[in-house]
Amino acid sequence: MQTGFRDGTFQLGAGVSTAAGIPDFRSPRTGLYARLAKLNLPYPRAVFELNYFRFNPIPFYTLTRELYPGRYRPTLTHTFVKLLSDGGLLHTCFTQNIDTLERQAGIPADKLVEAHGSFASQHCIDCKKEYDSARMRELVEKGEVVRCDNESCAGLVKPDIVFFGESFPELLSQSIPKIGTADLLFVIGTSLTVQPFAKLASMAPESCPRVLINLDFAGDIGTRADDVLLLGKCDAIIRDLCRELGWEETLDREWAK
Ligand code: OAD
Ligand code: ZN
Repeated sequence: MQTGFRDGTFQLGAGVSTAAGIPDFRSPRTGLYARLAKLNLPYPRAVFELNYFRFNPIPFYTLTRELYPGRYRPTLTHTFVKLLSDGGLLHTCFTQNIDTLERQAGIPADKLVEAHGSFASQHCIDCKKEYDSARMRELVEKGEVVRCDNESCAGLVKPDIVFFGESFPELLSQSIPKIGTADLLFVIGTSLTVQPFAKLASMAPESCPRVLINLDFAGDIGTRADDVLLLGKCDAIIRDLCRELGWEETLDREWAK
């Protein structure tokens, strides 16, 4: 692969997974926050708040069942990140997504920063004991709210998704400085509204072109001379980009695997 950059960095959000059938959060009507209204939450964000979860775990478990890994396939955009990784051109893939589609696409763990955690593991919110993944899947699929199997506890079990007010995975704080050495940043499918993730784009060096691939404008991208705005559906834009690079066939082959 011949390109003008060596250290491609990605900042991914929910828009990357909508083509897989997973709703994003903030799109009017189709976004999860609009759809969660029917669960009678006091306000949509409450689904990711620990105090509310203790009071009523059903909305978060409803969401968990809907998003649980194994029900969806990675998109062309995830596959593009994997292609860059295979070609030795991937620096870091930062994602806010909790759907684990980056892992499923084969993006290596040492290049991946799941900033908001994922459904790949779970713990009791009281005694912190880890809960078995196979058993968790079984119960989630049955529509049950899962409780700790430590008999003296029986606390609620929560997938390791970062809730509002919880601390971020250590890996995120360790990885944030890496943005300082990116030489090309793709920001894809995110409204850039949740910190500290959103600020990564503004931490990219001035010398690093930033490419926003999104349905709408986001953050401060567009304010620097080298910024590129590609507004539209990300899979279609990635396909066009790969066609220009002569990678379209490779992209389709990898995606079909
Ligand atoms: P949002 O729902 O806030 O933003 C998704 C963005 O993707 C919007 O700007 C959409 O216009 C755009 N979009 C949707 N479909 C697209 C497509 N096919 N192609 C291109 N763009 C598309 O989602 P995030 O920014 O990821 O927190 O949300 C950030 C955080 O808010 C999430 O991680 C979540 C939530 O609270 C947790 O999960 C804890
Ligand atoms: Zn417990």
